[in-house]
Amino acid sequence: MTTLQLDEQGRLRHFLTIEGLSRDWLIRIMETAQSFGSVTAQSVKKVPLLRGKTVVNLFFETSTRTRTTFELAAKRLSADVLNINLSVSATAKGESLLDTIRNLEAMFVDMFVVRHADSGAAHFIAQHVAPHISVINAGDGRHAHPTQAMLDMFTIYHHKQDFEKLKVAIVGDILHSRVARSQIQALKILGVSEIRVIAPETLLPASVTELGVRAFHNLDDGLADTDVIIMLRLQKERMQGAMLPSEHEYFQCFGLTEARLARAKPDAIVMHPGPINRGVEMDSQVADGPRSVILEQVSHGIAIRMAVMALAMGVVQRGAVA
Ligand code: CP
Repeated sequence: MTTLQLDEQGRLRHFLTIEGLSRDWLIRIMETAQSFGSVTAQSVKKVPLLRGKTVVNLFFETSTRTRTTFELAAKRLSADVLNINLSVSATAKGESLLDTIRNLEAMFVDMFVVRHADSGAAHFIAQHVAPHISVINAGDGRHAHPTQAMLDMFTIYHHKQDFEKLKVAIVGDILHSRVARSQIQALKILGVSEIRVIAPETLLPASVTELGVRAFHNLDDGLADTDVIIMLRLQKERMQGAMLPSEHEYFQCFGLTEARLARAKPDAIVMHPGPINRGVEMDSQVADGPRSVILEQVSHGIAIRMAVMALAMGVVQRGAVA
């Protein structure tokens, strides 16, 4: 996968997964995002780096945060953006994925941002596009959501700096979560000292400890002394059959409340990639409380996506405009 992501000169061509990337690449993406922070503070929130380039948002699955922050990021880089409404496109008439891609390529586009329910869809498209086109994975099945993981790392960095000292807990539906997979890979690459996953047995992959994490089935035990708590949504759309007794019971055992948050360090931050199900994964006091950085994650998504798009188009080098 990495050889497809990086070209022969080691430059980012596609961004499909965190797996196999070096620590240096993750730092480079965050440094570049940091350099774009000032763009958001300007009255004219634009830089001309991708002027004349065309970015196609190709979302085969629903999205609020990822699609809109990719669109904003592309517009802040001055790219032209096409949002393909797949429910009214020819895909709904039976056109194959590859034919859709070939037709869009014929319109001289430069980048596809792809979300798809099938694991490997973005990788498949990257294998088939013309050499000048970049593909960015905006979430594929249960496999990966690399820009989400990078915006999460960027948010953690803003609060904690030294990754190597951190204990990070990821709570909830690990089994179906592409976000958790990408986060675990990124946290390991950045040298986090302890990564915990906390979930009922039915929502953990059978070989979870092979991912280099500690597994807990009790929320209070798992949260003890943690610096960062990442809550995940129950992905009911990917569950086959009953994997939980009820949402009420899930909240009783795994929902984050202020009382449970007291088990973590006093300065622990609470994260969630969204969308949140209040009263299922966490209660509103925590979601809207002083330790929640959930909306910061959304804001950081713009800078991280600007960084990934600019790096993939080769218009920035190591945090600075080329
Ligand atoms: N975090 C995330 O991927 O949210 P959306 O589904 O709204 O894009």
